[in-house]
Amino acid sequence: MRPPLLSINNQAIGVFDSGLGGLTVLKALEKQLPHESFIYFGDTAHVPYGSKSVETVQNYSNQITQFLLSHDVKLIVIACNTASSVAAEVLRKKFDVPIFGVVTPAVEQAISFHKNGEIGIIGTQATIASNSYVDKFTSLAPHINTVQQACPLFVPLIEEDWGDTDTAKGVADIYLKSLAKHPVDALVLGCTHYPMMEKIIQSVVGNSVKLISSGPAAAKTVDNFLVKNNLQNDGKNSPTEAFFVTDFPQKFDKLGSQFLGRALTNVHHIKL
Ligand code: DGL
Repeated sequence: MRPPLLSINNQAIGVFDSGLGGLTVLKALEKQLPHESFIYFGDTAHVPYGSKSVETVQNYSNQITQFLLSHDVKLIVIACNTASSVAAEVLRKKFDVPIFGVVTPAVEQAISFHKNGEIGIIGTQATIASNSYVDKFTSLAPHINTVQQACPLFVPLIEEDWGDTDTAKGVADIYLKSLAKHPVDALVLGCTHYPMMEKIIQSVVGNSVKLISSGPAAAKTVDNFLVKNNLQNDGKNSPTEAFFVTDFPQKFDKLGSQFLGRALTNVHHIKL
């Protein structure tokens, strides 16, 4: 194995997702950690993970983790709710690097907003079927009741740029109807894409419900970890950023800049 070229503090943070949705998490990480360098891996050839089997998502996540480690990352953020739900534990057992998912940080944040009601969770089919969020709430706050709902049409609506249309509102009305029967205090947006539909989701569930996105919650957790373990970048050099993707699908540039809030540069194609 070749030795790392940088001190561990100045190594990049590895971030991966099934595709481009994880850029919403990267955006939050960059905001919270402006001195850190990042390597983002988007498995655009295999997206969506949300409708795939656990074995397949674990297999892809495993290969991506190996790739990021070959780039000497100091820690890894799984910026995908589906992979966080079904692969995080397997990766942590296998690899000797700190690995953060997006489930626990969002659950912790939701608990802090909890009043007397219940907490709602929405996500892909795979995330909801895994019960990852419900299990985490049960272990951290067993007194809180949860209600969850898969919203599989949200990802394609957002990718078609239909996230802010009457069609999206109609679909959200149907999916979120089951939540309306519950006194929900907070709703976890358990999918990297859903912040792009925040306006519609908020209008359907009402302003009294706090929406919790994966990105900011995960960024705070990573920040705390870096500080606690004295692993922050020393800030002497400008932070760097590189993107690796397994395909350049149609609308790559458009979607990428929508999710990240600016154009992607330093993008490389890689075969998994
Ligand atoms: N990134 C996925 C997630 O957060 C959404 C897209 C997909 O299904 O791969 O669950």
